[in-house]
Amino acid sequence: MSQTLEILDEVSLEDLNTMAIAATARHFADIENPDQLKQALNYAREHRLETLVLGGGSNLVFAGNFDGLVLHMALRGRSWEQVEDGSAVLVLAAGENWHEAVMYAARSGYRGIENLALIPGTAGAAPVQNIGAYGVELCDTLQNVTALDCELMEVVTLTAEDCQFAYRDSMFKRNPGRYIILEVRLRLSRHIPLKLDYQDLQDYLGETNTAELTPLAVAEAVMAVRRRKLPDPDVLPNAGSFFKNPVVSPSQFEGLKERFPDIVCYPLTDGVKLAAAWLIDQAGWKGFRNARVGIHNRQALVLINHSGGSGDDVLALAEEVRGSVRKKFGVELEMEPGIVGTR
Ligand code: EPU
Repeated sequence: MSQTLEILDEVSLEDLNTMAIAATARHFADIENPDQLKQALNYAREHRLETLVLGGGSNLVFAGNFDGLVLHMALRGRSWEQVEDGSAVLVLAAGENWHEAVMYAARSGYRGIENLALIPGTAGAAPVQNIGAYGVELCDTLQNVTALDCELMEVVTLTAEDCQFAYRDSMFKRNPGRYIILEVRLRLSRHIPLKLDYQDLQDYLGETNTAELTPLAVAEAVMAVRRRKLPDPDVLPNAGSFFKNPVVSPSQFEGLKERFPDIVCYPLTDGVKLAAAWLIDQAGWKGFRNARVGIHNRQALVLINHSGGSGDDVLALAEEVRGSVRKKFGVELEMEPGIVGTR
């Protein structure tokens, strides 16, 4: 593993974003250790370059080329800490593939993240948007995060509380550029109950005797359920859910429920969360496609890059979808992936 940093120029990012948008980085560095990260940040400061931290590229849209320095997080390594009484802490370096880490934990008999199988991306990106699926969120098991504080240029440890997790949100999203995640620590257990409440999972498991289920069997069930609805980015380039499920006030919800009695919703303490997929589906978008981009035919929340679509193509379709949902339901959809690059 090299300690010295290599900076490349004009690097294609097409294979490094799951929407397969053709874009280039003016400068690019593979980051394999914290030392290289510090060198890269110093280089960017000296040359007045903007930086972009890139993990698996599964939650961003390149609106154009990136005119700065891309830091491709390639730190690898996983280990166990504090193994005691059936619980243990799984330590993952930021560049570890998330799904492989889930399978590793599940195969080792540890519970806590099996419902998060097949989520694309890296371990280091997982806390940024507090990844979640099938009734489980990363914040349920996250113990702490080791990160480089880019203001102090010091490695710091942030607890789950420091991370201020919320639905697809965290302190990292609210303070872009301040921290770069180096390592995540997850507290897993051999004994905590499996979470099997999510309807799709229940339907799949059917008559299975859940008392005998292992975390590996649950991970495999989640994979099967996801594969039915969510497209494989290697086959149909996409960024997962393109919009967050919107939250509306109880009074707005009452009005919607009167006009649309079948509306899919999840009550919260201070509002009602709506299924964005249902809204988009009802607005008639499911399966839509133009020459380059479209909406998945089995999950209306997923935008697909069918054939060489640019960031502009993707964002134009997203705007059309938002506009029609606004018109039909009066509900504002918020994009889940971040937009980067200059148009
Ligand atoms: N629905 C439709 N039409 C569709 C798809 C879904 O009407 O085309 C309805 C379904 O019948 C269901 C509801 O919408 O009643 C919700 O659908 P689903 O259960 O598929 O979940 P979702 O809310 O659309 C969320 C996450 C996914 C996660 C699944 C499973 C968000 C934005 N999305 O989707 O996360 O995998 O639940 O837990 O929270 C991601 O973030 O990239 C992602 C894929």
